[in-house]
Amino acid sequence: MTTGPRSLVALLDGWRDSGGPAFRALAARVRLLAVDGRLASGSRLPAERELAGALGVSRTTVSAAYAALRESGHLVSVRGSGSVVQLPGPRARDPEVPGPLDLTRAVLPCAPQVHGAAVLAAADLPSATGPDRPGGGYDLVGLPELRALLAARYTARGLPTRPEEVLVTLGAQAAIGLLARTCTSPGDRVLVESPSYPHALDAVRAAGARPVTVPVRAATAREAGGWDADALEQAFARARPALAHLMPSFHNPTGAVMPEELRRRVVELARRYGTRLVVDETTAELAVDGPAPGPFPADVVHVGTVAKTLWGGLRIGWVRADARLVRHLAQHRSPWELGTPVLEQLLVARALPHLDDVLADRREQLRAGRDTLLRLLAGAVPEWELPRVDGGFCAWVNLGAEASSALVTAAARRGLQLTAGPRFGVDGAFERFLRVPFGHPPGVLERAVPLLAAAWAEARTADRPPLAVADVV
Ligand SMILES: Cc1ncc(COP(=O)(O)O)c(C=O)c1O
Repeated sequence: MTTGPRSLVALLDGWRDSGGPAFRALAARVRLLAVDGRLASGSRLPAERELAGALGVSRTTVSAAYAALRESGHLVSVRGSGSVVQLPGPRARDPEVPGPLDLTRAVLPCAPQVHGAAVLAAADLPSATGPDRPGGGYDLVGLPELRALLAARYTARGLPTRPEEVLVTLGAQAAIGLLARTCTSPGDRVLVESPSYPHALDAVRAAGARPVTVPVRAATAREAGGWDADALEQAFARARPALAHLMPSFHNPTGAVMPEELRRRVVELARRYGTRLVVDETTAELAVDGPAPGPFPADVVHVGTVAKTLWGGLRIGWVRADARLVRHLAQHRSPWELGTPVLEQLLVARALPHLDDVLADRREQLRAGRDTLLRLLAGAVPEWELPRVDGGFCAWVNLGAEASSALVTAAARRGLQLTAGPRFGVDGAFERFLRVPFGHPPGVLERAVPLLAAAWAEARTADRPPLAVADVV
């Protein structure tokens, strides 16, 4: 895959802001783009002369930057293919720096209820492996007992649901990917939020669809934040999207909650323009202050997961949709994957009856994390604008300057990994923003904030490579 000079120049926007020698600043930005996935590993960079022309710098600057990237292991020269981006192995790490503090993943610790559920699930296994269970363990729809429990939970939340309206998947991500692949054709428009969950954007792009964005802002002391109702209306009317992916309840990363009236409006718009509306409820039950918002009407597709309630390592999610769509989705899972693991499903079936206790614990953990994070940030970096967050697991912080990539690079040098704002946008927007997850234990946040503040102080001069590679969740 080749990254042309024009698209690279767009991705490099603001690369000089980090100061220092131009070749170092250029190399630092390319490293960041590689590390946070905006430049895919394996993509070919433009020839030196071409990039120099497009950036308006001397060829020597680009040569020196490429040489620095080769030295740090982020670029490799392949005969006949030019300079190809790669992610360096562990040797590129600085041995002086202790193991990185990873805030790229917005995760919560495993709920203790998972351990007891695992023991019970192991005992249940013989009953799920008997000859009366079809499929030899290849389960494309979900175990009947788990589908029944998930359906009962929707019913209790106010959306009457039958087991055949639930499809169990490999986490919410597989559900989003499956919906994107099966409910769109290449070239179709898909309405997404801006910013959005990066892997949802990846799934839309991988399906060959064209994202159409609607802005979402975090609530702050100055403004209520949320979705721009006019932009939503116009996006539906102009793009007539085949699919819409929204996170109306504690949106990731802004934490915004869509008001009831706008929810009703969005449902009406989706009905009017024939859009398959998908609400991603990954964060929906993670209320910190008030009650958690309820589900949408039955013709809206709901995606859920236990990743943030029980544990991300379980990889169990689901789709709640009409029974016809559920059957259609099940038929289209292969060839990407061939079903959901049975033991993990048994475990989730054993843990679900305790979900309300788990959620009560999560509320306390998230409140402690949020309060700690916002208090520490307000003290350490008073110039940042902090969001008001009532739920979910991250703070979308306005840095007040287009320096997110430079900040993340400087933080990585200090052993703190974060994801820069542009990873949450469609085309390199959000250099002013940083997502800081607060689901981690307060001790982790107490270690992280001083590093972040020090990185901020240096962000404009930081020019050394990030030290480790991580994905975003
Ligand atoms: C909004 C959103 N959707 C989907 C996912 C993926 O969830 P899962 O881990 O269940 O695949 C995440 C994970 O962080 C998320 O935040």
